[in-house]
Amino acid sequence: MLMLMLCMLGAASVRGEDPYVYYTWDVSYGTIAPLGVPQQGILINGQFPGPEINCTSNNNIVVNVFNNLDEPLLMTWHGIQQRKNSWQEGTPGTTCPIAPGTNYTYHFQVKDQIGSFFYYPSIGLHRAAGGFGGLRIFSRLLIPVPYPDPEAEYWVLMGDWYSKSHTILRKFLDSGRSIGRPNGVIINGKTAKGDGSDEPSYTMIPGKTYKYRICNVGLKDALNIRIQGHPMKLVELEGSHVVQNVYDSLDVHVGQCFTVLVTADQQPKDYYMVASTRFTRYTLTGKAIIRYTNGVGPASPELPPAPQGWAWSLNQFRSFRWNLTASAARPNPQGSYHYGQINITRTIKLTNSVNRLQGLRYALNGVSHVDTETPLKLAEYYGVADQVFKYNIISDEPPVDLKAIVNAPNVINATYRDYIEIIFENHGKTVQSYNLDGYSFFAVAIEPGRWTPEKRKNYNLLDAVSRHTIQVFPKSWAAIMLTFDNAGMWNLRSEHAENRYLGQQLYISVLSPERSLRDEYSLPDTQLLCGIVKDLPKPEPYHM
Ligand SMILES: *[C@@H]1O[C@H](CO)[C@@H](O)[C@H](O)[C@H]1NC(C)=O
Ligand SMILES: *[C@@H]1O[C@H](CO)[C@@H](O)[C@H](O)[C@H]1NC(C)=O
Ligand SMILES: *[C@@H]1O[C@H](CO)[C@@H](O)[C@H](O)[C@H]1NC(C)=O
Ligand SMILES: *[C@@H]1O[C@H](CO)[C@@H](O)[C@H](O)[C@H]1NC(C)=O
Ligand SMILES: *[C@@H]1O[C@H](CO)[C@@H](O)[C@H](O)[C@H]1NC(C)=O
Repeated sequence: MLMLMLCMLGAASVRGEDPYVYYTWDVSYGTIAPLGVPQQGILINGQFPGPEINCTSNNNIVVNVFNNLDEPLLMTWHGIQQRKNSWQEGTPGTTCPIAPGTNYTYHFQVKDQIGSFFYYPSIGLHRAAGGFGGLRIFSRLLIPVPYPDPEAEYWVLMGDWYSKSHTILRKFLDSGRSIGRPNGVIINGKTAKGDGSDEPSYTMIPGKTYKYRICNVGLKDALNIRIQGHPMKLVELEGSHVVQNVYDSLDVHVGQCFTVLVTADQQPKDYYMVASTRFTRYTLTGKAIIRYTNGVGPASPELPPAPQGWAWSLNQFRSFRWNLTASAARPNPQGSYHYGQINITRTIKLTNSVNRLQGLRYALNGVSHVDTETPLKLAEYYGVADQVFKYNIISDEPPVDLKAIVNAPNVINATYRDYIEIIFENHGKTVQSYNLDGYSFFAVAIEPGRWTPEKRKNYNLLDAVSRHTIQVFPKSWAAIMLTFDNAGMWNLRSEHAENRYLGQQLYISVLSPERSLRDEYSLPDTQLLCGIVKDLPKPEPYHM
């Protein structure tokens, strides 16, 4: 491996390749107390949340992960596009897990991306115990950023939290029960008690402007975030520079990330940052203290209220616009400016459903996904897919009877470079959140009711934000559009941990017919092998 690294480095310097950033992570259990009561957590290098990955567009990221848990582990890189490289995606459909007591080195490039992202452990409900952290990608020096450099940057990794361990929560799901409601909301691994004993999470110098990178890393609840007396100027959303609107509060659905600027222009004292659950019958609130460096006096106990209902949230979604003039890395080289003029070649309509009859299962178009021992991508690459899964057991239209749910690997295939529209239609009473790996998509519409082709005239075909996660409100639909120009096996999933664990996800296989290294990397020599491909001879690599 070291020799390989040296070779790669050698090759890098010869070819003037992009710089490398190295991390070594020890993933282990440790005691944490996010809600004040000690419980088992998953730490990285002793930290909860885990250490940040700090890099610049096009950097090569090398993370050597030592799994010191007693369970298999996979790390995934939420929002990182992994161009030509679903091998490094770290989802069970692409990659074999890292066995306990062993290590594995992820190697990927953050090609043409900027912004605030996060990573997390993708299997075994590990995210309920931690193992997540921030991943920030700076613009390269020559590329102008559409706002002045902030004084400093801060992470706001917020989420709902359960006081039960991930193993207990997992047992609930394995026995067909729900994990129920969370016990609290945390910000960067804790919440302020509000009794005067809290240390500040953030400090600001009067008059200066700070960048806050906000992600919802929780399990099920959308959160509204706000800061006493301080509006937030939105500058970046899931990898895109946006029109810089100012918001008193932001609804952040599970898996979404927002980057905002906040100026310290109020009386010098403490202020609460507040994150509270949305669209739930219960209200859970997490708090963090922001202190002015010359501050005197505690934060006011009076917290700003969250907005009510989801119409407010829908309006906020519609206010997010791509900044068409900000020069930035383009997430989608083909027609990124003109996505509204490309002819749609395929419409995939996905409807979620739930079955409570034989234990709890969630489905998309009537199929509830189950992971396979042999990762789908490996089965496909080795030419033994037919022994592991069937393609396209769902069709592009949801079945009439959504209650009849079949448990099976859910894999559809897409023609390389097709321009596809995906409609998510939610007939249920709970809000949904979906993430697609391998791509950014144009989030062109969210509307109440049912989708029909006539609704296309309501799409934002000019300046919709290119992003990776979209919410779908109850009894509503959402539409996204994208070119499937990244060959690989990509997970499309509910960001809600329970729904995902119990089947509300699928994989999209995008194969380049050329089998050319121009379109996709061959199986890396270092890739872990498992299941039926473990001892098979390696297929011919793709050609140059
Ligand atoms: C993160 O990267 C930026 C830009 O490359 C650099 O200025 C900063 O010092 C880095 N911070 C840390 C903590 O490594
Ligand atoms: C495991 O870690 C060692 C020591 O850092 C490294 O040399 C080796 O390449 C790693 N193994 C894998 C499979 O990444
Ligand atoms: C968009 O980006 C440009 C160029 O960087 C910047 O000057 C402008 O203020 C931004 N527009 C809006 C509406 O935020
Ligand atoms: C899109 O389809 C229309 C009607 O079928 C056709 O006239 C037009 O040339 C197509 N546009 C592109 C960019 O292919
Ligand atoms: C999708 O899979 C089916 C069934 O294996 C196959 O016949 C078809 O050619 C595939 N299509 C693409 C675009 O790969």
